Amino acid sequence: MGNLTICDHPLIQHKLTFIRDKDTKTKDFRELVDEVATMMAYEITRDLPLETTTVTTPVIEATSKIVSGRMVGLIPILRAGLGMVEGMLKLIPSAKVGHIGLFRNPETLEPVEYYVNLPADATERQLIVIDPMLATGGSANAAIQALKTRGCTQIKLMCLIAAPEGVAAVQKAHPDVDIFLASLDSHLNDHGYIVPGLGDAGDRMFGTK
Ligand code: PRP
Ligand code: URA
Repeated sequence: MGNLTICDHPLIQHKLTFIRDKDTKTKDFRELVDEVATMMAYEITRDLPLETTTVTTPVIEATSKIVSGRMVGLIPILRAGLGMVEGMLKLIPSAKVGHIGLFRNPETLEPVEYYVNLPADATERQLIVIDPMLATGGSANAAIQALKTRGCTQIKLMCLIAAPEGVAAVQKAHPDVDIFLASLDSHLNDHGYIVPGLGDAGDRMFGTK
């Protein structure tokens, strides 16, 4: 089964409180999500492979380390995942970005796929699927499956907030995928919303509804 990591850095937990607050306005919500995404990117890239190179410093030619192979691919799930991309690119600016468009049917809670566009070399990259919310897990599972169907094998999942139901669903369907969260919340309510959660991430990110 994939590892579950809760990124419990105090600054992440502090900012998450304001992200959850229903009175936080769109501009501040966006900025806070962006900041937390940068900090989580640090944690999720911790195991990137390194190789040895040489560097000529003003003093001597020395051996030093650089990231080995191709840089990661970021795969935001539209819409809300978009709000975490810029924050991650601050730390890994040469990452490529693919997009997977999914929305949840509000009645069935089943994901509906409407767009997939991946970097040409996606199969050679460590991919990070990004979505602020992991609720039933249907959207994340569908996104991960869309990547696997196209030959991708190195996949991680990064979300701000998850329900235990969503974590269990991803771990069952994709036991090879490590999950990184800022918070594992209590449960899903009858409408499939995470409790306590933050409400509808897409609406809060883009000021819709
Ligand atoms: C939200 C969220 C996830 C999904 C999580 O997206 O951003 O993608 O719900 O729910 P699940 O784990 O039960 O699938 P939504 O469907 O509201 O689409 P949007 O981002 O376009 O608003
Ligand atoms: N999608 C959201 O945006 N919020 C939830 O709580 C659940 C799914």
